[in-house]
Amino acid sequence: MLGLFKGFGRGQRASAPTVEHPPLQVKPRHIGIIMDGNGRWARKRALPRMAGHHAGMISMRETIRACDDFGIECVTLYAFSTENWKRPVSEVEYLMRLPEQFFRSEIDELVSRGVRVRFMGDTSRLPPYTQETVRNSLERTAQNTGMTVNFALNYGGRSELMHAMSQFAQEVAAGRTCADELTEERFESYLDTAGLPPLDFVIRTSGEIRLSNFLIWQSAYAELWFTDTLWPDFSKEELYQAILEFGRRKRRFGDVE
Ligand code: FPP
Repeated sequence: MLGLFKGFGRGQRASAPTVEHPPLQVKPRHIGIIMDGNGRWARKRALPRMAGHHAGMISMRETIRACDDFGIECVTLYAFSTENWKRPVSEVEYLMRLPEQFFRSEIDELVSRGVRVRFMGDTSRLPPYTQETVRNSLERTAQNTGMTVNFALNYGGRSELMHAMSQFAQEVAAGRTCADELTEERFESYLDTAGLPPLDFVIRTSGEIRLSNFLIWQSAYAELWFTDTLWPDFSKEELYQAILEFGRRKRRFGDVE
């Protein structure tokens, strides 16, 4: 099953002429991406859904490279949600094998770029082979100090919030803190994104206009950007345009101008 879709994807993009982008004056420190539309991309080509996910993985690789080239500090990629278990077993299995496939071919480049890999979500529920990939990629990139790539795997915003609340409640029950000592900053230290820069930009592809349980606490003041482009067709150029638009937004955080 794994190598089955090797020929699909977008090899053509690798040889496409590279456009020189003028340096970005204003850019988000932390971008979150909801990579949506793999299935529709495949259906339009009369291909199986898995071919869409494979093409999506190639698009993800290009996007990671682009974020690094643009000097973004952190990118969080929604790769598998807590709701995605509802999909057919064969699709879930394919998605669970993708990290292994991705890191086998990309880890050397990530290391040479100084990228630090992180994961968020309940990775303890992933199949053993996916967990092994998680461990290996964390180990291989632990000393890196460049861009952080944070993969959301078996992640859901509500479950993250419940987990954070439960951790705090346990601290209270153990007498290590009091309920009224809870501040926003302290609460954030229990979230999966603890230690990452504040999320300032969320991109969603494929024309859907919702967050689908992605970083629901962290996106409170993030700028949102939606495109009809299906994820496998998302390009460095479109990312650049999105970041330019981010730079034009007036961010007031509830204040007046
Ligand atoms: C949503 O499209 C996409 C996903 C559920 C999977 C996204 C995963 C990748 C892009 C690759 C992940 C790779 C690694 C290494 C973590 P969809 O299937 O819901 O598309 P549809 O809405 O058109 O059906």
